[in-house]
Amino acid sequence: MADTLGRPLHDLRISVTDRCNFRCGYCMPKEVFDKQHAFLPHAELLSFEEITRLASVFVACGVEKLRITGGEPTLRRGLETLIAMLAALRTPDGREMDLTLTTNGSTLVKKAAALKAAGLRRLTVSLDGLDDAVFQRMNDVGFPVADVLAGIQAAQAAGLAPIKVNMVVQRGVNDDQILPMARHFRGSGVVLRFIEYMDVGATNGWRMDQVLPSAEVLRRLQAEFPLTPLSQSAPGETAERWAYSDGGGEVGFISSVTQAFCGDCNRARLSTEGRLYTCLFATRGHDLRALLRGAAPASDAELAGAIAGVWQGRSDRYSQLRGSGQATPAGERRVEMHYIGG
Ligand code: GTP
Ligand code: 5AD
Ligand code: SF4
Ligand code: SF4
Repeated sequence: MADTLGRPLHDLRISVTDRCNFRCGYCMPKEVFDKQHAFLPHAELLSFEEITRLASVFVACGVEKLRITGGEPTLRRGLETLIAMLAALRTPDGREMDLTLTTNGSTLVKKAAALKAAGLRRLTVSLDGLDDAVFQRMNDVGFPVADVLAGIQAAQAAGLAPIKVNMVVQRGVNDDQILPMARHFRGSGVVLRFIEYMDVGATNGWRMDQVLPSAEVLRRLQAEFPLTPLSQSAPGETAERWAYSDGGGEVGFISSVTQAFCGDCNRARLSTEGRLYTCLFATRGHDLRALLRGAAPASDAELAGAIAGVWQGRSDRYSQLRGSGQATPAGERRVEMHYIGG
């Protein structure tokens, strides 16, 4: 099943909550997501049964990788139950799914072992700096970096592997953390990835002058560590991978702004309330929940038909069009990242 640009459907990213205990300025700025902000009421969220049913239909449509996101997914009560349900899914030819999760790491000390026991295989932790003052300024709720680092250790001890750490780099905000982060995670088995600050959503006040191009991050790293480029490990991968030449492991660069990777983008996103989005920068989603909860609930074949129809009509390539003036339809507002998941 391919879209209008010939891209297959391979990944499904599932947002299980729109809530988060952090207020990273590039994602949920405090001024916008304050006490007055109305998060989704529980009845609007897809239930675990609904998520698993939809995921199984996506798997029948070709999805082989499931990523649980949020908001902060570990805030969803009983998440382990959902993980166990998703871990039981198999591809049409009987293979296990690549099942993973993106978290801010704040709950891992408590939850890593249970997530692993439920069937989670690997994990990505978002962490934007090692200096406590910088990190607390970035999460904007005073969360200490030591607790996230302890969470990463707990995840390693629980046997979740590989663990990746995503660092969003904002020039003048945390770019002084690039080298300390690299030194810290080098040789630890954790894969550090640098993400260019992106213009997702409509609330983060994105400015191009705050983007530090990956080429510059690479240059700074290379001044201290010799690095060798690695080839892609999977088609459609977001990160460009490099290895420390002395065997200290690898790092990655996710460069949506300076080197768009829409050309082989194979990711679909399912929002907290069951809308299907075909791009991180989309303005509209397709309501799959309505098909599940309608007066005449859809069969699996009907759901598969709806998903195929959406995917086959897909032409998104926002990052390639960014700056062209045609990237976002006039008068429309891009969906927020904590609602469809990173
Ligand atoms: P791995 O399989 O572990 O390599 O995962 P991944 O790179 O697919 O997923 P991850 O959630 O770690 O993605 C890293 C970050 O890349 C996200 O948090 C986003 O910031 C960004 N990202 C992921 N997918 C897309 C995409 O389709 N488009 C754009 N522009 N950015 C993306
Ligand atoms: N630009 C780049 N990455 C972002 N993320 C959230 N907002 C942005 C943005 N504006 C990343 C987080 C996390 C994942 C969920 O998405 O760092 O790794
Ligand atoms: Fe929460 Fe992640 Fe968004 Fe930060 S980037 S506010 S941790 S969802
Ligand atoms: Fe895929 Fe949209 Fe990201 Fe391009 S901008 S890589 S189409 S999600």
